[in-house]
Amino acid sequence: MHLNEKIAKFATRKLLNNHIIMRKNIVAGNWKMNTTKVDGVALAQEVAALSEQTPAEVGLIVAPPFTHLCAVGKALAGSKVELSAQNCADHVKGAYTGEVSVDMLKAVGCQWTILGHSERREYYGETDEKLVEKTRLALEAGLGVILCVGERLEEREAGKHFDVCASQIENVLYKFSAEDMKKVIIAYEPVWAIGTGKTATAEQAEEIHAFIRSRIAAKFGDEVAEDMTILYGGSCKPSNARELFAQKDIDGGLIGGAALKAADFIEIAKSF
Ligand code: 13P
Repeated sequence: MHLNEKIAKFATRKLLNNHIIMRKNIVAGNWKMNTTKVDGVALAQEVAALSEQTPAEVGLIVAPPFTHLCAVGKALAGSKVELSAQNCADHVKGAYTGEVSVDMLKAVGCQWTILGHSERREYYGETDEKLVEKTRLALEAGLGVILCVGERLEEREAGKHFDVCASQIENVLYKFSAEDMKKVIIAYEPVWAIGTGKTATAEQAEEIHAFIRSRIAAKFGDEVAEDMTILYGGSCKPSNARELFAQKDIDGGLIGGAALKAADFIEIAKSF
């Protein structure tokens, strides 16, 4: 993107009917079930050190497995990198073996939790109803929510991708207030692009990001929609991040595989 185009993009983001747009560019790393505690701390230390090379206005988040949230949080201390969980329980506390509550996440320093990742929807029966509960508990506890939405391959081939994303957003986020949306990020992750090496083209991604923003506007108004950060996820890497992030409605990425290499993750964060 030429400097002039960059300035134009920035300028169009600045004002909407005298409303200063607060939308933030963010790159978040979802480590999924990868790294041991030792590897995770080393990766976090590297990300924290390299994060100084990224533009001040780009936010960075990492989401390690539960077992090393605490240690990774310590490794990130003093850096701009924020800490996220990959999931949380749909109950406050009690007899829910194997679950981790929002208060436990807060207590180890999490600022965010990812919710509704397609792997959780697909393999662990995560429903929109459960996601409403999880989102409610997370927001009440003061955690930000990165809500994942996205269609499967067969749904895209059947031309249902807009409907699928609309219903995932409406079933969950429409239960909350405009004020709550300040603590929510949406991640559009087409299931067919996750871990497959197949990225959505910048045009495909932009089309659905703009649509997602329009669904937020329909419920909460234009200002809330313009302030909403919408990330793209699915085989995002240093070689394609620049083109994706140049799109008007793509505000960063939720990165899987490439987030496991600090240099790649940081390179992606330098792609705006
Ligand atoms: P990949 O970047 O490995 O495709 O994973 C994307 C993802 O699922 C992030 O949550």
